[in-house]
Amino acid sequence: MGPLSLLDDSAGARCAVLGDPIGQSLSPLIHGTWMAREERVGLYHALQVLAEDLPVALAQLNEAGYTGCNLTIPHKENALSLCDELDGAARAIGAVNTVHFCEGKLHGYNTDAYGFMAALQAQLGDIPLEHVVILGAGGAARAVIYGLKKAGAKDITLLNRTATRAQALAEEFGVGYAAWENAPNVLGRATLMVNTTSLGMAGQPPLAIDVAALPAHAAVADIVYKPLMTELLKSAQARGLKVATGLGMLMHQAQAAYQIWFGARPVVDAALEQSLLEALGEPPLCG
Ligand code: ATR
Repeated sequence: MGPLSLLDDSAGARCAVLGDPIGQSLSPLIHGTWMAREERVGLYHALQVLAEDLPVALAQLNEAGYTGCNLTIPHKENALSLCDELDGAARAIGAVNTVHFCEGKLHGYNTDAYGFMAALQAQLGDIPLEHVVILGAGGAARAVIYGLKKAGAKDITLLNRTATRAQALAEEFGVGYAAWENAPNVLGRATLMVNTTSLGMAGQPPLAIDVAALPAHAAVADIVYKPLMTELLKSAQARGLKVATGLGMLMHQAQAAYQIWFGARPVVDAALEQSLLEALGEPPLCG
């Protein structure tokens, strides 16, 4: 027995997302949609788990025969040392967002980098990755850098409010960094700019970056998805730049997690996006 109230095994395949807070998570809607489409007998639910309870919570899910779980704030980094095996992405990014319970062992994965790159491809197609500027130097930036480097991006520059943090991350991943004050210069040659900070999210301060400094052929991606069209994306779009929203990363990281657990690759489509927008209280997509 542990602290969580789990589903009994008559529910079929059981999965969960663990976090604190967790009420806002869209993962149950995403995975529930895919399970229903496949007529898979199973349930995916959200579990509130405090940081200090993660070891016992994972042990409890494993013991209870859950197929897997996703991890969100504040668990992604803490889970590293709790997994028996880690995939290369989880190791390099330093965070686990997906756990597969495999014959009593915990296999840890990170599907965020895949999610970001797949979303970029789905929304923008093959865009030039010659000069990429990444805003932020936190956990989300790590996944984005990893994904972009794997995709062949050679020139990546980190811009972060705290320059020392950007420097440390840049050295770890072998990329460049620049001081926030130099943003206009750095942005002037960017083919892609990615916001990995939470700035611009509902309830957070806006992101103080002027997209006027970007070249006309640049693309802008935001990992924030509430609101779907952040002020950053709106101003980029107003300039005629290509934009990618953050909801794609959320859906595609889930797609990879589902495939790890069940083998089948679920489809990310407009119907799924529409139901997420509805849950977020966003207006429907046009067209
Ligand atoms: P996550 O793991 O979600 O990426 P994080 O590690 O807290 O979260 O990182 C948040 C990022 O947003 C950091 O790059 C942070 O900049 P600092 O390293 O200077 O803290 C950035 N950020 C948060 N609030 C900010 C603000 N008001 N202005 C500029 N950058 C901010």
